[in-house]
Amino acid sequence: MSYPGDRAPSLSLADFQDGLRRPVARDEVASFQPSPEIQRLDIRFDIGKLRQALREVERRKGFSDDVWGAIPLTQRPGHQGPWSQSDLSGLYHMRADERYQEEAFEDPVDEAQFSEFVPDLADTYFAEVHSTLSQYMKIGRMRILRKVSYNANSWHRDPEPRLHIPIVTNPGSLFIVNNHCTHLPADGHVYFTDTRGYHTAVNGGLAPRVHIVAALPEGRV
Ligand SMILES: [Fe+2]
Repeated sequence: MSYPGDRAPSLSLADFQDGLRRPVARDEVASFQPSPEIQRLDIRFDIGKLRQALREVERRKGFSDDVWGAIPLTQRPGHQGPWSQSDLSGLYHMRADERYQEEAFEDPVDEAQFSEFVPDLADTYFAEVHSTLSQYMKIGRMRILRKVSYNANSWHRDPEPRLHIPIVTNPGSLFIVNNHCTHLPADGHVYFTDTRGYHTAVNGGLAPRVHIVAALPEGRV
């Protein structure tokens, strides 16, 4: 009978005994560690202005719910009225149970349609962030996403990659793509996350974390 990962090497008991008293690295987990699927881009915004804009947007809009909070920053041109469920979520794939079988969930969303910055937030710093990013790439749905304490997303893959701009975070807030896990500091930097790979976001800290997350329709596969 085979099982997932049964070709991965095992640690010999001699090496296990030798390594038992070896010191373990503890500091680098509180910093950004890149991988091919998680990269810091050479664009940086003003973290003070991002936090100020967040306070203003929260005052005007509020998050969509208490656990998985989203505030849309882009929309289909001329959109009015409430957001549909698929406006806020959309197609993803996951292997959800012990069958290890990949299945699709929810309906596809054409990210390229979300080309307009939400007009009543156009006076905030987030509009400047959107227009700066748009000089270099097409931006689809751009949302402010809040993740409460002790919360994780599903383990899934998306049709497109994403950008993340952390605004409020803590060292227990981690992003995982495939086999790589890293903290994304809230330092104004823009982080590319290749969410076409399997990924999740975890907040293992005591306070909520808040990121701008933007889908990149040009990376659709
Ligand atoms: Fe995702």
